[in-house]
Amino acid sequence: MKALVLSGGRGTRLRPITHTRAKQLIPVANQPVLFYGLKAIAEAGIKQVGIVVGDTAEEIKQAVGDGEKFGLQVTYIYQQEPLGLAHAVLVSKKFLGSEPFVMYLGDNLLKSGVRKLVEQFNREKANSRILLAKVKNPSQFGVAELKGDKVVRLVEKPKKPKSDLALVGVYIFDKNIHQAVAAIKPSARGELEITDAIQWLIDQGKKVCWQVVDGWWKDTGKVEDLLEANRMILDELEEKIEGKLDSESKIEFRVRIEKGAVIKRSRIRGPVIIGPGTVIEDSYIGPFTSISENCLIRSAEIEHSIIMAESKIENLSQRLSDSLIGRNAVIRCSKQKPGAFRLIIGDRSEVDLV
Ligand code: G1P
Repeated sequence: MKALVLSGGRGTRLRPITHTRAKQLIPVANQPVLFYGLKAIAEAGIKQVGIVVGDTAEEIKQAVGDGEKFGLQVTYIYQQEPLGLAHAVLVSKKFLGSEPFVMYLGDNLLKSGVRKLVEQFNREKANSRILLAKVKNPSQFGVAELKGDKVVRLVEKPKKPKSDLALVGVYIFDKNIHQAVAAIKPSARGELEITDAIQWLIDQGKKVCWQVVDGWWKDTGKVEDLLEANRMILDELEEKIEGKLDSESKIEFRVRIEKGAVIKRSRIRGPVIIGPGTVIEDSYIGPFTSISENCLIRSAEIEHSIIMAESKIENLSQRLSDSLIGRNAVIRCSKQKPGAFRLIIGDRSEVDLV
């Protein structure tokens, strides 16, 4: 069994962060989202992984390398244009050959990993196995319609969904999928949809099995979803204090402070993770906050947020909450008069002053 990890796409719903960064590399609990998927694939015993890359190829290659750190052998496959998930399979035909494979969307996070899914597929004689999850907003996903224990119809982002069962971005296919992706036509949004390719398999009488996902699943396509994924991962965080903490600082609940981080006169209420080289002074860091490496947080209160590497947050007069802060960002309050907001923010940024 091989794996195909999709790491192209433009991440338009995560702009402005994705103007400068691949969406799959946005950190959740201080690790790129993509790494969780790669680890799950390695844990299922798969070695050969094709990563489909687009505009952000160089960045992904730099982060993942040859895959050795995950115990994987990675082959990069270029998709010139993001023409859809089924198109990604089309361009990966040479790498996949006739072996079955797990297809994993690089911005999806699954608590239960993929091991059980792979084992189940290996036991049965199916052509595909898909994962479904109950969601509140099915029209934003591929949606499955079941009859008895069979999937009878799959529709991509239907206006009037026939069920609340969304297609999770993790699938297993055998070689029949190559015929399917070659047979379908682009959808209304101009993409070759993997949902339509699976429907093609069903229409051809192929065996498509399904199961409901175990534990949580998150597609991290939007800011709220990233913050939720961050919450879910931090919720299971193992406590570890390797950085330096002065006697005036206080830690409550589960907190991980990485080597080289320094905490002075501050209160950290977990679950919280603080990356290496980050300095926190005279601050409060509240639950569900991830602060990446080499940040400086001084005289500020932050909670329920993701702060990426090398950022500086100083002298805030209000608590920062529910925020996603990119790399090398600076947020500070000065005491200068007259008081005013002075903002230098990039295209498509969002500032909510509440
Ligand atoms: C894609 C699939 C959709 C699936 C979703 C899961 O949507 O097209 O069927 O439910 O991933 O994350 P996209 O994120 O490309 O809009």
